[in-house]
Amino acid sequence: MNIAVFVSGNGTNLQALINAERKEGLSGGKIALVVSNKPEAYALGRAKAAGIKTFVLEKKGFASREEYDKKTLERLRKEDIELVVLAGFMRILSAGFIDEYADRIINIHPSLLPDFKGAHGIKDAFEAGAGTTGVTVHFVAEELDSGPVILQEEVKIEQEDTLERLEEKIHKVEHKLYPKAVRLFVEGKLKVEGKKVKIKGE
Ligand code: GRF
Repeated sequence: MNIAVFVSGNGTNLQALINAERKEGLSGGKIALVVSNKPEAYALGRAKAAGIKTFVLEKKGFASREEYDKKTLERLRKEDIELVVLAGFMRILSAGFIDEYADRIINIHPSLLPDFKGAHGIKDAFEAGAGTTGVTVHFVAEELDSGPVILQEEVKIEQEDTLERLEEKIHKVEHKLYPKAVRLFVEGKLKVEGKKVKIKGE
């Protein structure tokens, strides 16, 4: 199954997926394409180093989000992409895109959704003085940081944690949880029922 990973920044989650594919495999899933809206994204270098094709599309020159997404969709069709994995992709997808890939787009968010949605999930939980936060992998719905939850894992915020330490703890969990979720998808074990995800065999 061909997978596209969408990135905008550092790409540590992309790297975790690349490493997982190399070491234990992704149950037959193959990262066939890395898509970025930022030509300067560090993640693109990671893709190239791993010999993965990249597709960079900047928003300038496009009249609308739909027009931009149409171009991306063309490329995804060409590469036979069956699963879209968002890994720090800082752009909202259009309704047309989400429709075409309904229940085949997943995202990772650094909090226990629905808590601490938005671009600063880790910092917001830290500053709120929460005792617990975590990581969520979910299917993408039109509303930002919503959609049926696939996997969640808690991360405790200890008294002695600094924001940097908490970020490290969260990323460590992300890098373990995302390959696991991708494998479940590729194995056909995820079934969306309304707002919930049933995992076969659990
Ligand atoms: C991760 O914390 C992820 O949860 C969020 O964006 C961050 C991306 O980090 N959606 P990286 O680019 O994978 O290092």
